[in-house]
Amino acid sequence: MVRPVIAGNWKMNKTVAEAVDFAVRLRTAYSTPPDRRVIIAPPFTALLAVADAIRGSFILLAAQNLHEAEKGAYTGEISGEMLREAGCSCVIIGHSERRTLFAESDDRINRKLRAALTVGLAPIFCVGESLRQREDGETEAVIELQLKEGLNNLTASDIGKILIAYEPVWAIGTGKTASPGQAEEVHRFIREWIARRYGPESGAELAILYGGSVTPKNIAELMAQPDINGALVGGASLDVDSFIQLVGY
Ligand code: PGA
Repeated sequence: MVRPVIAGNWKMNKTVAEAVDFAVRLRTAYSTPPDRRVIIAPPFTALLAVADAIRGSFILLAAQNLHEAEKGAYTGEISGEMLREAGCSCVIIGHSERRTLFAESDDRINRKLRAALTVGLAPIFCVGESLRQREDGETEAVIELQLKEGLNNLTASDIGKILIAYEPVWAIGTGKTASPGQAEEVHRFIREWIARRYGPESGAELAILYGGSVTPKNIAELMAQPDINGALVGGASLDVDSFIQLVGY
């Protein structure tokens, strides 16, 4: 049984003060660890302060992106080592907003995944199809290509450290959630694909998160699906009371 994961992706939201206030309130709400992995992904500027606020708690810190190089002349970029130092244990890679708005290719995403693993960050690797691709019946082909290229050259041991998030692009920030059945179908496809390629154990132990308009109202029915092990939540993770409800779904 994969331990459920609830991850909040704040995107470009929250000042340092707002982020710390959230973290302190979340920490206070759960004095004993819930039987699930709870991850928050603040913007870069708030990482250090949030790391301080959650030190010693069960809450894990994620970054929303990293650069694949170790260091160097990459103005505006942040390396995996810097994120580790700031207190991160996870990093979101391949989010559809990065793929579309910042032209991140599967190859680039693969290099980012490898960079994260090299410094001991657990990647939350995002995949998902657009509305047109779904309507054209290409969902599985698109997901398979993203998996194949994104995970290129990774070993079964690497796969053991990765979380995969299935986020249909048409469901992100639109209020349109995939139905539990639609999501489960793709999650099962991902798990079987991983099991075929990396062995049954890798498939069975993989945490696959669903993302796209998850709210406290719909999380329970999504999490009831056998292959949905968690949620990657944007909008509904910004309000601490809503996030506490998501964690306690
Ligand atoms: P949303 O975003 O919950 O606001 O749809 C999810 C995500 O982009 O990770």
